Amino acid sequence: HEEFTKVKNIATVELGKYEIETWYFFPFPPEYNDCVKLFFCEFCLNFMKRKEQLRRHMRKCDLKHPPGDEIYRSGTLSMFEVDGKKNKVYAQNLCYLAKLFLDHKTLYYDVDLFLFYVLCECDDRGCHKVGYFSKVIQHIIYRYVWFPLFGLLIKRNFYWVQEKHSEEAYNLACILTLPSYQRKGYGKFLIAFSYELSKKEGKVGTPERPLSDLGLLSYRGYWTRVLLDILKKHKGNISIKELSDMTAIKAEDILSTLQSLELIQYRKGQHVICADPKVLDRHLKAAGRGGLDVDVSKLIWTPYK
Ligand code: COA
Ligand code: NA
Repeated sequence: HEEFTKVKNIATVELGKYEIETWYFFPFPPEYNDCVKLFFCEFCLNFMKRKEQLRRHMRKCDLKHPPGDEIYRSGTLSMFEVDGKKNKVYAQNLCYLAKLFLDHKTLYYDVDLFLFYVLCECDDRGCHKVGYFSKVIQHIIYRYVWFPLFGLLIKRNFYWVQEKHSEEAYNLACILTLPSYQRKGYGKFLIAFSYELSKKEGKVGTPERPLSDLGLLSYRGYWTRVLLDILKKHKGNISIKELSDMTAIKAEDILSTLQSLELIQYRKGQHVICADPKVLDRHLKAAGRGGLDVDVSKLIWTPYK
């Protein structure tokens, strides 16, 4: 919006014990026009213009973790599943916060359609947000039904839930690691988590495009590590389809990853995966650290029906 872009925007946010410099402009409502720093309650994510307001708020706010279900706990790490429909304000505030670090994605104000998986580091003071990813749960088809007899126009929502098995779906819409926690492996943890959910759903998944540069780097690193680890251990032939079934990574993403590493060759009219152990080791080393592992035995979750 023309008018908003001229206004000096939020330059820093306070969140828990961190003061974070923002990366991108975001058009907050006009009452924030004179505001260069925002104070977020790290638990409920309500934001305020002054420190004193936040202090007063903290005395009243009794939330110590994100609203929603804790679906994973391992050591000090917990994941919470927040339903955007049940926790609209929280979800919207999370999107506002994320938008300060994202330039390209349109912000989804309609948080009703999303689940948010919020990663926290927990201690005796509460669960501190590290990052999150979001995921669409269902597509809503609006249908207008005309009842001529009564002359009524009734608008109804039909929820069309994707078929459970042997389907591809977006398993991630947006991903963010808060800057204070970046480059520590949390991004790869979030990505790995999104694929663990897809495995439980019996689906193959892929992130929504476009990905940011950092998003693509993180995905490339994750895909490379997961696929090459399998190829290293595997004996005999393996197809892209089999790799996809094992990892829940979409076939196209597997192909593009292996192609970018020049591991796909065309021989006798067929694509074959070249899996020379020395070459694999070299690529694995280049792919960086493995990140934090998801302990699947600690994930207590059943897919939405
Ligand atoms: N410079 C160079 N490489 C980087 C990088 C940086 N600043 N940040 C991440 N990477 C690459 C590295 O290869 C890294 O692996 P390594 O540390 O082993 O070398 C890999 O990405 C992932 O690192 P990791 O620590 O697991 O990720 P993260 O917690 O820093 O989170 C993002 C990655 C993308 C979630 C984070 O950068 C982010 O939130 N960015 C802003 C929002 C965004 O762009 N989201 C994606 C689009 S929806
Ligand atoms: Na994000």
